[in-house]
Amino acid sequence: GDLTQRTQAIVDRLIGLEGPLLPILHEVQDEFGFVPQESLPVIAEALNLSRAEVHGVMTFYHDYRNHPAGRHVLKICRAEACQSMGGDALAERVKKLLGIDFHQTTLDGSVTLEPVYCLGLCSCAPAAMLDGEIHGRLDGAAIDELVQEARK
Ligand code: FES
Repeated sequence: GDLTQRTQAIVDRLIGLEGPLLPILHEVQDEFGFVPQESLPVIAEALNLSRAEVHGVMTFYHDYRNHPAGRHVLKICRAEACQSMGGDALAERVKKLLGIDFHQTTLDGSVTLEPVYCLGLCSCAPAAMLDGEIHGRLDGAAIDELVQEARK
């Protein structure tokens, strides 16, 4: 199908790179907004990997999603500095507010929640990113506001 062909075109273009798997996954996600199931066998075959291996890499890096994102993408920093500043509680609060776990999208399609590992804002921990915009020093009120904004 179309998905397979478009994936194949990306693979053909990037397969000459050294360590082509990550650039290919990146490009596929850029093209479709996520990495479709149908893309996995195409990538696996071209790189002589099993589908499980490709899937394993996807999961390991946290950067790739296997379903289309919601209208907004909220990323909560899960790295050390943020964790030590209450990042766990923050993540729990957001999950509860949205009623979803990481890597999931709300039923109304408004928000996709994803973990991220350091936003470079450690001095203003805990931090999160909404649609590419970074927010620091998030206390309960600030994160509630951010979630509310994301739900629109
Ligand atoms: Fe969260 Fe660096 S650890 S921004």
